[in-house]
Amino acid sequence: MSLPQLLRDNLALPVIGSPMFIVSTPDLVIEQCKAGIVGAFPALNARPEPVLEQWLQRITSELAAYKAAHPDKKVAPFAVNQIVHASNPRLQHDIELCVKYKVPVVITSLRAPDQAVEAVHSYGGLVFHDVTTIQHAKRALKAGVDGLILVCNGAGGHAGRLSPFALVPEVRAFYDGTIILSGAIASGDAILAAQSIGADLAYIGTRFIATQEANAVPGYKQALVDSAAEDIVYSSLFSGVHGNYLRSSIVAAGMDPDKLPDGDKSAMDFGAGADPATGGAKAWRDIWGAGQGTGQIRDIPTTAELVTRLGQEYRAARERVLAA
Ligand SMILES: Cc1cc2nc3c(=O)[nH]c(=O)nc-3n(C[C@H](O)[C@H](O)[C@H](O)COP(=O)(O)O)c2cc1C
Repeated sequence: MSLPQLLRDNLALPVIGSPMFIVSTPDLVIEQCKAGIVGAFPALNARPEPVLEQWLQRITSELAAYKAAHPDKKVAPFAVNQIVHASNPRLQHDIELCVKYKVPVVITSLRAPDQAVEAVHSYGGLVFHDVTTIQHAKRALKAGVDGLILVCNGAGGHAGRLSPFALVPEVRAFYDGTIILSGAIASGDAILAAQSIGADLAYIGTRFIATQEANAVPGYKQALVDSAAEDIVYSSLFSGVHGNYLRSSIVAAGMDPDKLPDGDKSAMDFGAGADPATGGAKAWRDIWGAGQGTGQIRDIPTTAELVTRLGQEYRAARERVLAA
């Protein structure tokens, strides 16, 4: 197991608050970093394009000021997520801004991140890449990434099909670098479990949608409180790639969650408009992404309260396991 020095020295808990389309904005990211976990947002959330520079300015200056005022606290670095795909015309521009602001961690999704790796390494930044299969993991390592995010079964958004108990050890067998585990992690106990099967960090998305700072409408946050794992539907209809969504939001859009047609992969378009195939409902805005960890969400705390709670659960779980 291995963690780059930047993360070894500056995390209060081995967690990355994962980037989520629409949901992750500076309010959430800054609170996550102040609480000692990496906060991340997709570059495409900053719209139109010039907003990205404003966000980078705000996040870097607020975190620097907070660090200066709290020299003894662990203040985590932040991360920007780049979608490496033909449907993202901003990629070059957004990577150039990451270089300008020396964004500490860049998280790449979908295609192999060759171009991003070279740019981010030029200033000493780290690149972590999302994968769901061994084949993609090996391809990303060829590109020179600094860590792999294994997106397993049950994750919110575009989830893989493999159990973490299968994928983490298979990747560990050929890779001793940083492994970050994604999928239905919503408690301190699960963070410890991720480490115990060979991951270095837990990647948590859905749990943070139900926080005060998340950019989600109140109905979405409450639906997470009211739902359990069986209320999550795995479908390719909404973005062309299989992902996990809240059943109640599909019903509210007038569709039958048990009879969804397949999506069109060739039409995959991130942040695209409403799709006629979904009766005009827009993925992520109207069809709410969520992972199977939703059954563990019972309230909508502040991010600071949630991270404190996750830390207490993590330490209690460690003691319980050691005492067993
Ligand atoms: C609403 C939503 C939007 C997401 N958007 C993105 C995204 O834009 N880019 C990305 O790399 N991952 C995205 N993800 C996936 C997360 O980064 C992460 O892999 C996942 O949330 C972890 O699983 P969990 O939600 O069960 O904790 C999204 C997930 C959700 C729930």
